[in-house]
Amino acid sequence: MLYQGLLRPLFFKLDCETAHHLAHLAGVLAGPVWPVLSGFFTYSGDDLKQNLAGVELANPVGLAAGFDKNGLLAPSLGSLGFGFAEIGSVTARASKGNPKPRCFRLPADEALINRMGLNGDGADVVAARLVRCRFSLPLGINIAKTNDPDIQGDAAVEDILYTYRQVRDLPVSFLTINTSCPNTTDGIMEETRELAIILHEIAKDSGRRLPVFVKLSPDSTPQLIEDIVACASETGVAGLICGNTTVSRAGLITDGAALSRIGNGGLSGRPLKPLALALVRAVFKLKTAEQVIVACGGISSGDDAYDFVRAGANAVQLYTGLVYQGPTLPRDINSQLSRLLKRDKITLQEAVGISA
Ligand SMILES: Cc1cc2nc3c(=O)[nH]c(=O)nc-3n(C[C@H](O)[C@H](O)[C@H](O)COP(=O)(O)O)c2cc1C
Repeated sequence: MLYQGLLRPLFFKLDCETAHHLAHLAGVLAGPVWPVLSGFFTYSGDDLKQNLAGVELANPVGLAAGFDKNGLLAPSLGSLGFGFAEIGSVTARASKGNPKPRCFRLPADEALINRMGLNGDGADVVAARLVRCRFSLPLGINIAKTNDPDIQGDAAVEDILYTYRQVRDLPVSFLTINTSCPNTTDGIMEETRELAIILHEIAKDSGRRLPVFVKLSPDSTPQLIEDIVACASETGVAGLICGNTTVSRAGLITDGAALSRIGNGGLSGRPLKPLALALVRAVFKLKTAEQVIVACGGISSGDDAYDFVRAGANAVQLYTGLVYQGPTLPRDINSQLSRLLKRDKITLQEAVGISA
Protein backbone atom coordinates (compact mmCIF):
# COMPACT_ATOMS: atom_id res chain seq x y z
CA MET A 1 0.00 0.00 0.00
CA LEU A 2 2.75 2.44 1.05
CA TYR A 3 4.70 1.45 -2.03
CA GLN A 4 1.85 1.56 -4.55
CA GLY A 5 0.23 4.70 -3.07
CA LEU A 6 3.31 6.78 -2.37
CA LEU A 7 6.68 5.41 -3.47
CA ARG A 8 5.71 3.98 -6.85
CA PRO A 9 4.26 7.29 -8.19
CA LEU A 10 7.50 9.01 -7.11
CA PHE A 11 9.71 6.33 -8.66
CA PHE A 12 7.66 6.39 -11.87
CA LYS A 13 8.37 10.13 -12.27
CA LEU A 14 12.02 9.15 -12.76
CA ASP A 15 13.31 7.23 -15.73
CA CYS A 16 13.42 3.49 -15.23
CA GLU A 17 17.16 3.10 -14.70
CA THR A 18 17.48 6.09 -12.31
CA ALA A 19 14.59 4.73 -10.23
CA HIS A 20 16.31 1.36 -10.13
CA HIS A 21 19.59 2.92 -8.95
CA LEU A 22 17.73 4.86 -6.25
CA ALA A 23 15.89 1.76 -4.98
CA HIS A 24 19.13 -0.19 -5.12
CA LEU A 25 21.04 2.53 -3.24
CA ALA A 26 18.31 2.71 -0.58
CA GLY A 27 18.65 -1.06 -0.19
CA VAL A 28 22.43 -0.82 0.23
CA LEU A 29 22.35 2.17 2.63
CA ALA A 30 19.63 0.56 4.74
CA GLY A 31 21.84 -2.53 5.12
CA PRO A 32 22.18 -2.40 8.93
CA VAL A 33 18.40 -1.79 9.36
CA TRP A 34 17.21 -4.67 7.17
CA PRO A 35 17.44 -7.37 9.85
CA VAL A 36 15.14 -5.27 12.11
CA LEU A 37 12.60 -4.96 9.29
CA SER A 38 12.83 -8.55 8.19
CA GLY A 39 9.80 -9.64 10.28
CA PHE A 40 7.63 -7.30 8.21
CA PHE A 41 8.92 -8.48 4.84
CA THR A 42 9.09 -12.19 5.59
CA TYR A 43 6.51 -14.96 5.55
CA SER A 44 7.78 -18.25 6.90
CA GLY A 45 6.18 -21.63 6.96
CA ASP A 46 7.50 -25.19 7.11
CA ASP A 47 5.31 -26.00 4.10
CA LEU A 48 7.45 -23.69 1.92
CA LYS A 49 10.84 -25.14 2.84
CA GLN A 50 12.67 -27.41 0.44
CA ASN A 51 16.02 -28.71 -0.68
CA LEU A 52 16.57 -27.41 -4.21
CA ALA A 53 19.41 -29.28 -5.91
CA GLY A 54 21.23 -29.54 -2.57
CA VAL A 55 20.45 -25.97 -1.51
CA GLU A 56 18.22 -25.50 1.55
CA LEU A 57 15.57 -22.85 0.86
CA ALA A 58 13.29 -21.25 3.47
CA ASN A 59 10.82 -20.50 0.69
CA PRO A 60 10.61 -20.99 -3.10
CA VAL A 61 10.55 -17.30 -4.13
CA GLY A 62 13.85 -15.95 -5.45
CA LEU A 63 15.19 -12.66 -6.79
CA ALA A 64 16.03 -12.99 -10.49
CA ALA A 65 19.33 -11.97 -12.05
CA GLY A 66 19.73 -8.37 -13.20
CA PHE A 67 18.47 -6.58 -10.09
CA ASP A 68 21.75 -6.84 -8.21
CA LYS A 69 24.24 -7.23 -11.04
CA ASN A 70 27.34 -6.53 -8.95
CA GLY A 71 26.47 -8.16 -5.62
CA LEU A 72 26.19 -4.89 -3.70
CA LEU A 73 22.87 -5.84 -2.11
CA ALA A 74 23.84 -9.46 -1.51
CA PRO A 75 24.36 -9.21 2.28
CA SER A 76 20.88 -7.66 2.83
CA LEU A 77 18.68 -9.68 0.48
CA GLY A 78 17.62 -12.26 3.07
CA SER A 79 15.66 -9.61 4.98
CA LEU A 80 13.47 -8.91 1.94
CA GLY A 81 11.56 -12.16 2.26
CA PHE A 82 13.23 -14.02 -0.60
CA GLY A 83 14.18 -17.67 -0.20
CA PHE A 84 17.17 -17.25 -2.52
CA ALA A 85 18.65 -14.70 -4.90
CA GLU A 86 20.76 -14.61 -8.01
CA ILE A 87 23.29 -11.87 -8.60
CA GLY A 88 24.75 -10.97 -11.99
CA SER A 89 24.98 -11.49 -14.83
CA VAL A 90 28.69 -11.25 -14.10
CA THR A 91 30.99 -11.14 -17.12
CA ALA A 92 34.76 -11.63 -17.40
CA ARG A 93 35.37 -8.02 -18.35
CA ALA A 94 33.75 -4.94 -16.85
CA SER A 95 31.28 -3.36 -19.25
CA LYS A 96 29.24 -0.16 -19.44
CA GLY A 97 26.55 -2.00 -21.40
CA ASN A 98 24.47 -0.43 -24.17
CA PRO A 99 23.93 3.34 -24.59
CA LYS A 100 21.20 4.94 -22.43
CA PRO A 101 18.23 5.09 -22.30
CA ARG A 102 17.99 1.31 -22.15
CA CYS A 103 15.19 0.49 -19.73
CA PHE A 104 11.54 1.44 -20.23
CA ARG A 105 8.28 0.92 -18.32
CA LEU A 106 5.05 -0.24 -19.95
CA PRO A 107 2.63 0.53 -17.09
CA ALA A 108 -0.51 -0.56 -18.97
CA ASP A 109 1.05 -4.01 -19.34
CA GLU A 110 2.89 -4.07 -15.98
CA ALA A 111 5.98 -4.79 -18.03
CA LEU A 112 9.49 -3.52 -18.72
CA ILE A 113 11.59 -3.51 -21.87
CA ASN A 114 15.34 -3.43 -21.27
CA ARG A 115 18.46 -3.57 -23.40
CA MET A 116 21.00 -3.05 -20.62
CA GLY A 117 23.50 -5.24 -22.50
CA LEU A 118 25.19 -6.95 -19.54
CA ASN A 119 26.65 -3.88 -17.85
CA GLY A 120 28.63 -4.71 -14.75
CA ASP A 121 31.84 -4.39 -12.73
CA GLY A 122 33.38 -7.58 -14.16
CA ALA A 123 34.31 -10.89 -12.53
CA ASP A 124 37.48 -9.78 -10.67
CA VAL A 125 35.74 -6.90 -8.88
CA VAL A 126 32.58 -8.85 -8.01
CA ALA A 127 34.60 -11.83 -6.76
CA ALA A 128 36.78 -9.57 -4.57
CA ARG A 129 33.60 -7.97 -3.19
CA LEU A 130 31.88 -11.25 -2.34
CA VAL A 131 34.80 -13.33 -1.09
CA ARG A 132 34.40 -12.30 2.53
CA CYS A 133 30.65 -11.59 2.52
CA ARG A 134 28.19 -13.35 4.76
CA PHE A 135 24.83 -13.92 3.14
CA SER A 136 21.54 -14.30 4.95
CA LEU A 137 20.08 -16.48 2.18
CA PRO A 138 21.32 -18.89 -0.49
CA LEU A 139 22.89 -16.85 -3.23
CA GLY A 140 23.56 -17.86 -6.82
CA ILE A 141 25.94 -16.22 -9.26
CA ASN A 142 24.76 -15.84 -12.82
CA ILE A 143 27.60 -15.66 -15.35
CA ALA A 144 27.50 -14.72 -19.03
CA LYS A 145 29.83 -14.04 -21.93
CA THR A 146 31.29 -10.52 -22.06
CA ASN A 147 29.21 -8.40 -24.43
CA ASP A 148 31.85 -7.91 -27.12
CA PRO A 149 31.33 -9.04 -30.73
CA ASP A 150 35.07 -9.67 -31.11
CA ILE A 151 34.94 -12.48 -28.54
CA GLN A 152 33.75 -15.52 -30.50
CA GLY A 153 34.30 -19.29 -30.73
CA ASP A 154 37.08 -20.59 -28.45
CA ALA A 155 37.62 -17.10 -27.03
CA ALA A 156 33.95 -16.99 -26.01
CA VAL A 157 34.30 -20.34 -24.23
CA GLU A 158 37.46 -19.12 -22.46
CA ASP A 159 35.73 -15.86 -21.53
CA ILE A 160 32.96 -17.70 -19.63
CA LEU A 161 35.37 -20.22 -18.11
CA TYR A 162 37.49 -17.33 -16.81
CA THR A 163 34.47 -16.00 -14.92
CA TYR A 164 33.64 -19.52 -13.71
CA ARG A 165 37.15 -19.86 -12.23
CA GLN A 166 36.86 -16.44 -10.56
CA VAL A 167 33.57 -17.26 -8.82
CA ARG A 168 33.61 -21.02 -8.21
CA ASP A 169 35.18 -20.77 -4.73
CA LEU A 170 33.07 -17.89 -3.47
CA PRO A 171 30.79 -18.64 -0.51
CA VAL A 172 27.73 -18.90 -2.77
CA SER A 173 25.25 -21.75 -3.23
CA PHE A 174 24.81 -22.18 -6.97
CA LEU A 175 26.04 -21.00 -10.35
CA THR A 176 23.94 -20.12 -13.39
CA ILE A 177 25.17 -20.02 -16.98
CA ASN A 178 23.15 -17.40 -18.82
CA THR A 179 22.78 -18.39 -22.47
CA SER A 180 19.73 -16.31 -23.10
CA CYS A 181 20.34 -12.56 -22.95
CA PRO A 182 18.66 -10.95 -25.98
CA ASN A 183 20.41 -7.60 -25.43
CA THR A 184 23.96 -8.34 -26.51
CA THR A 185 25.54 -8.29 -29.95
CA ASP A 186 25.44 -12.12 -29.85
CA GLY A 187 21.76 -12.36 -28.83
CA ILE A 188 20.43 -15.63 -27.47
CA MET A 189 22.43 -18.78 -28.02
CA GLU A 190 21.46 -20.45 -31.30
CA GLU A 191 23.31 -23.74 -31.04
CA THR A 192 24.81 -25.76 -28.22
CA ARG A 193 28.44 -26.27 -29.37
CA GLU A 194 29.99 -23.66 -27.07
CA LEU A 195 27.63 -24.40 -24.18
CA ALA A 196 28.54 -28.10 -24.44
CA ILE A 197 32.26 -27.32 -24.21
CA ILE A 198 31.70 -25.01 -21.22
CA LEU A 199 29.51 -27.53 -19.38
CA HIS A 200 31.93 -30.40 -20.06
CA GLU A 201 34.87 -28.32 -18.79
CA ILE A 202 32.94 -27.44 -15.62
CA ALA A 203 31.88 -31.08 -15.16
CA LYS A 204 35.56 -32.14 -15.41
CA ASP A 205 36.67 -29.58 -12.79
CA SER A 206 37.75 -31.56 -9.75
CA GLY A 207 37.34 -28.42 -7.62
CA ARG A 208 33.70 -28.12 -8.68
CA ARG A 209 31.51 -27.55 -5.63
CA LEU A 210 28.50 -25.61 -6.81
CA PRO A 211 25.37 -26.99 -8.45
CA VAL A 212 25.13 -25.58 -11.97
CA PHE A 213 21.97 -24.13 -13.52
CA VAL A 214 21.42 -23.08 -17.14
CA LYS A 215 19.13 -20.15 -17.97
CA LEU A 216 17.09 -20.58 -21.13
CA SER A 217 15.25 -18.18 -23.43
CA PRO A 218 11.50 -18.34 -24.06
CA ASP A 219 12.36 -17.41 -27.67
CA SER A 220 14.38 -20.56 -28.40
CA THR A 221 13.01 -23.05 -30.91
CA PRO A 222 11.66 -26.38 -29.56
CA GLN A 223 14.69 -28.12 -31.15
CA LEU A 224 17.17 -25.84 -29.41
CA ILE A 225 15.40 -26.29 -26.06
CA GLU A 226 15.62 -30.05 -26.56
CA ASP A 227 19.34 -29.79 -27.42
CA ILE A 228 20.13 -27.56 -24.43
CA VAL A 229 18.32 -29.82 -21.97
CA ALA A 230 20.01 -32.91 -23.46
CA CYS A 231 23.41 -31.24 -23.15
CA ALA A 232 22.57 -30.13 -19.58
CA SER A 233 21.52 -33.67 -18.64
CA GLU A 234 24.73 -35.22 -20.06
CA THR A 235 26.92 -32.83 -18.08
CA GLY A 236 25.24 -33.12 -14.68
CA VAL A 237 23.52 -29.72 -14.73
CA ALA A 238 21.31 -29.55 -11.63
CA GLY A 239 18.63 -27.20 -12.84
CA LEU A 240 17.12 -25.14 -15.65
CA ILE A 241 15.98 -21.55 -15.22
CA CYS A 242 12.96 -20.86 -17.43
CA GLY A 243 13.62 -18.19 -18.38
CA ASN A 244 14.93 -14.87 -19.59
CA THR A 245 13.13 -11.92 -21.25
CA THR A 246 11.52 -12.17 -24.72
CA VAL A 247 11.91 -10.10 -27.89
CA SER A 248 8.24 -10.78 -28.68
CA ARG A 249 5.74 -7.91 -28.42
CA ALA A 250 2.66 -10.08 -28.91
CA GLY A 251 -0.51 -9.27 -26.99
CA LEU A 252 0.62 -5.95 -25.48
CA ILE A 253 -1.85 -3.20 -24.55
CA THR A 254 0.83 -0.50 -24.99
CA ASP A 255 0.32 1.03 -28.44
CA GLY A 256 2.57 0.33 -31.40
CA ALA A 257 3.85 3.92 -31.67
CA ALA A 258 5.12 3.82 -28.07
CA LEU A 259 6.71 0.44 -28.71
CA SER A 260 8.47 1.79 -31.84
CA ARG A 261 9.85 4.72 -29.83
CA ILE A 262 11.23 2.28 -27.25
CA GLY A 263 12.81 0.01 -29.87
CA ASN A 264 14.69 -3.24 -29.23
CA GLY A 265 15.00 -5.01 -25.93
CA GLY A 266 13.84 -7.88 -23.78
CA LEU A 267 10.28 -7.73 -22.49
CA SER A 268 9.64 -8.81 -18.90
CA GLY A 269 6.68 -8.74 -16.54
CA ARG A 270 3.04 -9.78 -16.86
CA PRO A 271 2.90 -10.38 -20.68
CA LEU A 272 5.86 -12.76 -20.43
CA LYS A 273 3.99 -15.25 -18.24
CA PRO A 274 2.40 -17.39 -21.02
CA LEU A 275 5.77 -17.78 -22.79
CA ALA A 276 7.60 -18.63 -19.57
CA LEU A 277 4.86 -21.15 -18.66
CA ALA A 278 5.18 -22.80 -22.09
CA LEU A 279 8.95 -23.02 -21.56
CA VAL A 280 8.50 -24.63 -18.13
CA ARG A 281 6.06 -27.18 -19.59
CA ALA A 282 8.45 -28.03 -22.45
CA VAL A 283 11.47 -28.40 -20.16
CA PHE A 284 9.52 -30.44 -17.58
CA LYS A 285 8.92 -33.08 -20.28
CA LEU A 286 12.60 -33.16 -21.32
CA LYS A 287 14.59 -32.94 -18.09
CA THR A 288 15.73 -35.82 -15.91
CA ALA A 289 13.81 -36.66 -12.72
CA GLU A 290 16.68 -35.28 -10.58
CA GLN A 291 16.91 -31.92 -12.35
CA VAL A 292 14.91 -29.01 -10.98
CA ILE A 293 13.20 -26.10 -12.72
CA VAL A 294 13.25 -22.49 -11.52
CA ALA A 295 10.50 -20.55 -13.28
CA CYS A 296 10.90 -16.87 -14.10
CA GLY A 297 8.75 -14.50 -16.13
CA GLY A 298 5.73 -12.41 -15.16
CA ILE A 299 5.29 -13.73 -11.63
CA SER A 300 3.53 -11.19 -9.44
CA SER A 301 1.12 -13.14 -7.22
CA GLY A 302 0.72 -16.40 -5.33
CA ASP A 303 -1.60 -17.59 -8.11
CA ASP A 304 1.14 -16.99 -10.68
CA ALA A 305 3.67 -18.89 -8.58
CA TYR A 306 1.21 -21.76 -8.09
CA ASP A 307 0.56 -21.94 -11.87
CA PHE A 308 4.29 -22.35 -12.46
CA VAL A 309 4.71 -24.95 -9.70
CA ARG A 310 1.81 -26.96 -11.09
CA ALA A 311 3.39 -26.74 -14.57
CA GLY A 312 6.64 -28.23 -13.25
CA ALA A 313 8.66 -25.56 -11.41
CA ASN A 314 10.26 -26.36 -8.05
CA ALA A 315 10.86 -22.68 -7.30
CA VAL A 316 10.24 -19.28 -8.91
CA GLN A 317 12.13 -16.03 -9.40
CA LEU A 318 10.99 -12.50 -10.14
CA TYR A 319 12.23 -9.04 -11.02
CA THR A 320 9.60 -6.87 -12.77
CA GLY A 321 6.90 -7.70 -10.21
CA LEU A 322 8.99 -5.86 -7.61
CA VAL A 323 8.90 -2.69 -9.72
CA TYR A 324 5.09 -2.74 -9.92
CA GLN A 325 4.11 -4.34 -6.58
CA GLY A 326 6.96 -3.26 -4.30
CA PRO A 327 9.15 -4.99 -1.75
CA THR A 328 6.38 -6.83 0.10
CA LEU A 329 5.80 -9.00 -3.00
CA PRO A 330 7.92 -12.02 -1.89
CA ARG A 331 6.08 -12.09 1.46
CA ASP A 332 2.68 -11.83 -0.25
CA ILE A 333 3.48 -14.54 -2.81
CA ASN A 334 4.68 -16.89 -0.08
CA SER A 335 1.64 -16.39 2.12
CA GLN A 336 -0.74 -16.81 -0.86
CA LEU A 337 1.11 -19.90 -2.06
CA SER A 338 0.93 -21.43 1.40
CA ARG A 339 -2.83 -20.75 1.48
CA LEU A 340 -3.31 -22.35 -1.96
CA LEU A 341 -1.38 -25.47 -0.92
CA LYS A 342 -3.52 -25.78 2.23
CA ARG A 343 -6.71 -25.26 0.21
CA ASP A 344 -5.75 -28.11 -2.14
CA LYS A 345 -4.43 -30.29 0.74
CA ILE A 346 -1.17 -30.83 -1.11
CA THR A 347 2.51 -30.29 -0.31
CA LEU A 348 4.77 -28.08 -2.39
CA GLN A 349 6.64 -31.16 -3.64
CA GLU A 350 3.38 -32.92 -4.58
CA ALA A 351 2.19 -29.85 -6.50
CA VAL A 352 5.27 -29.75 -8.77
CA GLY A 353 4.16 -30.71 -12.28
CA ILE A 354 0.68 -31.82 -11.21
CA SER A 355 -0.91 -30.03 -14.21
CA ALA A 356 1.89 -30.88 -16.65
C1 LIG B 1 16.53 -4.42 -16.19
C2 LIG B 1 16.72 -5.90 -16.29
C3 LIG B 1 18.01 -6.43 -16.31
C4 LIG B 1 18.20 -7.82 -16.40
N1 LIG B 1 19.47 -8.32 -16.40
C5 LIG B 1 19.66 -9.65 -16.45
C6 LIG B 1 20.97 -10.19 -16.39
O1 LIG B 1 21.97 -9.49 -16.27
N2 LIG B 1 21.09 -11.56 -16.47
C7 LIG B 1 20.02 -12.40 -16.57
O2 LIG B 1 20.20 -13.62 -16.62
N3 LIG B 1 18.77 -11.90 -16.61
C8 LIG B 1 18.57 -10.56 -16.54
N4 LIG B 1 17.30 -10.07 -16.57
C9 LIG B 1 16.16 -11.00 -16.76
C10 LIG B 1 15.52 -11.38 -15.44
O3 LIG B 1 16.42 -12.10 -14.63
C11 LIG B 1 14.27 -12.25 -15.68
O4 LIG B 1 14.68 -13.44 -16.33
C12 LIG B 1 13.21 -11.55 -16.54
O5 LIG B 1 13.11 -10.19 -16.21
C13 LIG B 1 11.84 -12.21 -16.39
O6 LIG B 1 11.36 -12.13 -15.07
P1 LIG B 1 10.31 -10.99 -14.60
O7 LIG B 1 9.16 -11.01 -15.57
O8 LIG B 1 9.92 -11.38 -13.20
O9 LIG B 1 11.05 -9.69 -14.63
C14 LIG B 1 17.08 -8.68 -16.48
C15 LIG B 1 15.79 -8.15 -16.44
C16 LIG B 1 15.60 -6.78 -16.34
C17 LIG B 1 14.19 -6.24 -16.30
